[in-house]
Amino acid sequence: MTVTEWTERYQGAVMNTFGPPQTILVRGEGSHVWDADGKEYLDLLGGIAVNALGHAHPAIVEAVTTQLTTLGHISNFFASEPQIALAEKLLALLGHDGRVFFTNSGTEANEAAFKATRRTGRTKVVVADGSFHGRTMGALALTSKEAYRAPFEPLPGDVVWVPYGDAAALEAAVDDTVAAVLLEPIQGEAGVIVPPDGYLAAARVITSKHGALLWLDEIQTGIGRTGTWFAFEESGVVPDLVTVAKGLGGGIPIGACIALGDAATLLQPGNHGTTFGGNPVATAAALAVISTIESDKLLDHAATIGDQLRRGLGDHALVTDATGRGLLVGIVLAQPIAAEVAKAALAAGLIINAPTTDRLRLAPPLILTENEAAYAVTTLRDVLDEVTT
Ligand SMILES: Cc1ncc(COP(=O)(O)O)c(C=O)c1O
Repeated sequence: MTVTEWTERYQGAVMNTFGPPQTILVRGEGSHVWDADGKEYLDLLGGIAVNALGHAHPAIVEAVTTQLTTLGHISNFFASEPQIALAEKLLALLGHDGRVFFTNSGTEANEAAFKATRRTGRTKVVVADGSFHGRTMGALALTSKEAYRAPFEPLPGDVVWVPYGDAAALEAAVDDTVAAVLLEPIQGEAGVIVPPDGYLAAARVITSKHGALLWLDEIQTGIGRTGTWFAFEESGVVPDLVTVAKGLGGGIPIGACIALGDAATLLQPGNHGTTFGGNPVATAAALAVISTIESDKLLDHAATIGDQLRRGLGDHALVTDATGRGLLVGIVLAQPIAAEVAKAALAAGLIINAPTTDRLRLAPPLILTENEAAYAVTTLRDVLDEVTT
């Protein structure tokens, strides 16, 4: 069956929430995927920052297969070894005591954290313009894009918006009635926007002063994506809540709401629940992702290859800035033609995306090699030349 035939079947059966698919992918290996017509692509988006180890990585295949043939699912009346080990591992990576609630996605991780903020006895949450925190009703209430929110109002209230990266605006917005300040350490969906140095540290000082929680959404940036386990690490802050998902399972659905220090006990028995969250297969996959990042030194690798991409693309005539850290890369264009560039890149065999009209985003597997990155730079530069002539 061809891409066209599959696309027709898709349109007749799958709910139209995403628009038509760009192609139908049938196979992946490493940083490459193939579509139903046999066309090969270099995957520079990695399922939007998900496929940390690329496609069909043996460590994930082995972990999932072994776990599935041992113990595939249990209810949350019980616990499993990989669930406990993964919670311990995440806390060890954060370097602090706390407790972890496992979910199946990013929006659910944020949903859990949002509920935790309500247990402070306060309701107000301060969120940044440009934020994306998910599509469930709670997470959507904390997501800035009007077009996503408007059809579903009323959403949970008491949300205050501040400009991203502006510590003075944050200071002015936070008082003793605020339950939490929620920030992405780098805004992903807004187009890979890095806040000024000192912003997260200022947010920590401001929240601590007013007894509010600092909640960092590391769903897109976490688990090695930016060259450190968590993007906030270099700020030196200790947050109260950290949410992760995406790269954690390397493609197996899993998320986590991690509460540190006193925040760890905000959610009490009966306050929250999930059937699949903490599933043995998903947690085993996440353990395999983390141990492969460690054994293959993918944090340093992500930092190096990310710099290679930014350097290689940043000086193109159409590019005004190359943003991000590690393998979360934003390419800012001088003209609002990002969608056109992404389409031409796909035709040239590169998967990237256009989160805004003038920004491209690359979030490739952390295993992307130097040669693949060099090929990506050459090909994408050709694409940029082509769209400007
Ligand atoms: C920062 C951030 N938070 C939350 C989410 C929502 O995650 P999910 O799509 O897994 O629900 C995303 C997804 O793009 C994200 O980038």
